[in-house]
Amino acid sequence: MDLPPGPRAPAAWQTVGWTVRPAAFLRRVHERFGDPVTVRTYWTDEPMVLFSHPDAVRDVFRLDPQVAPAGQSWEFLRPFAGPHSILVLDGEEHLRERRLIQTPFHGERMRGFGPTVAELAQQELSTWSGRVVTLERMKHLTLETILRVVFGARGEQEAAELRDAVHTTLDTVRSMPRMLAMSLVQRDLGPRSPWGRFRLAVERFDSLLFEVVARRRAEPGGDSMLALLLEQRDEHGNPPTDRHLRDQLVALLAAGHDTSAASLAWAFERLARHPSVRARLREGDPAYLDAVVKEVLRVRPALTIAPRRLLEPARIAGRTLPAGIHVAACLWLALRREDLWPQAAAFRPERWLDGPPPNPMSWIPFGGGVRRCAGAPFAEMEMREVLRASADLAIRPVRPEPEQARRSALVVTPHRGGEVLVG
Ligand code: HEM
Repeated sequence: MDLPPGPRAPAAWQTVGWTVRPAAFLRRVHERFGDPVTVRTYWTDEPMVLFSHPDAVRDVFRLDPQVAPAGQSWEFLRPFAGPHSILVLDGEEHLRERRLIQTPFHGERMRGFGPTVAELAQQELSTWSGRVVTLERMKHLTLETILRVVFGARGEQEAAELRDAVHTTLDTVRSMPRMLAMSLVQRDLGPRSPWGRFRLAVERFDSLLFEVVARRRAEPGGDSMLALLLEQRDEHGNPPTDRHLRDQLVALLAAGHDTSAASLAWAFERLARHPSVRARLREGDPAYLDAVVKEVLRVRPALTIAPRRLLEPARIAGRTLPAGIHVAACLWLALRREDLWPQAAAFRPERWLDGPPPNPMSWIPFGGGVRRCAGAPFAEMEMREVLRASADLAIRPVRPEPEQARRSALVVTPHRGGEVLVG
């Protein structure tokens, strides 16, 4: 079976483009080969076919999970994520986990977290002056938000211990090559070996989480996602085990920390270069605020693809593709197609207010189908709160030219970290 066309350059070269200049790489392959396009990088063992047309994207998101599991793409995370993690499960088990984990993300309960997020954002922004690398600060803020709102950390000591343990563990997880290599080898050559150090860090992190869970079980209540997750009951009426809760909390941390930080850093990178957007944001119209958030997620999505591995041949957009390869909805390309987004490269929140509603299969910063981001409402709420809190800050770019997109672990970030001058 022939694969769609794509660059003939060696995988090593394509890997460099994919990693160092992802936006330019994707634009080039799209211009040259159209849609779909086959790329070969070291990120996947077999070629990956990228789709961006809405009809093809719909087909990718509708693939039967038995034929095209997504959990296998995250398999390397298993040593950290754990066996109950929504990230590594597929099929019925995945759907069951998804129903459980989505409870805290609904309606009123979710909105209830808004004031805490707003307060954390205000605390963070009140420290800004001079040159600020917003990506670093947003990593700090989004972690703080997860510790307080998701894990329900109470008091500074509990938060500080968890923060410290998260840093040690995530430093390893963030290094994709190291994580991949370690999950392949997984040989414990003592506490000083990379795997040994990683295992110790995860153990320490887990024991802290178990302590937090035990304290919350002993004193229920409070408004955190953990409090809501503790209320879960499976089909037999059983509450979740500590292990299961641990895997849920870690899934929310792994999926929600870097993605939100990258998206917020892009927001500051774009806003610093668009004073008219900032001026309108200051007027306080909630619809405009929402449009700004959506436009940031469109023009600079934090993740570029939603990948699936084909275990059997599958038909996508009228073409049969062979088993073994990877297919992906290319979020980055779908969100920047000129035929669907006039002046696609421009940062124009107005398009969300004046224009027709977007095709749902081209508005996909959160992926789609049964794997669509479980935290999307939370992520958008967090972005709205941070941008609302920052509306009165005087910010300008350190350099006038836009920052380029660069891959940092799994997410795409501004290459200078979204640096701005405040004041
Ligand atoms: C702007 C920030 C975010 C972006 C751009 C984003 C994007 C995504 C994408 C593209 C996927 C994969 C979808 C697919 O494969 O079709 C995903 C999955 C997921 N996200 Fe997010 N995400 C963000 C924030 C969050 C937050 C804050 C949380 C939780 C607190 C979260 C929780 C999850 C979970 C649990 C999954 C796995 C869903 C599943 O496998 O069923 N995300 N996200």
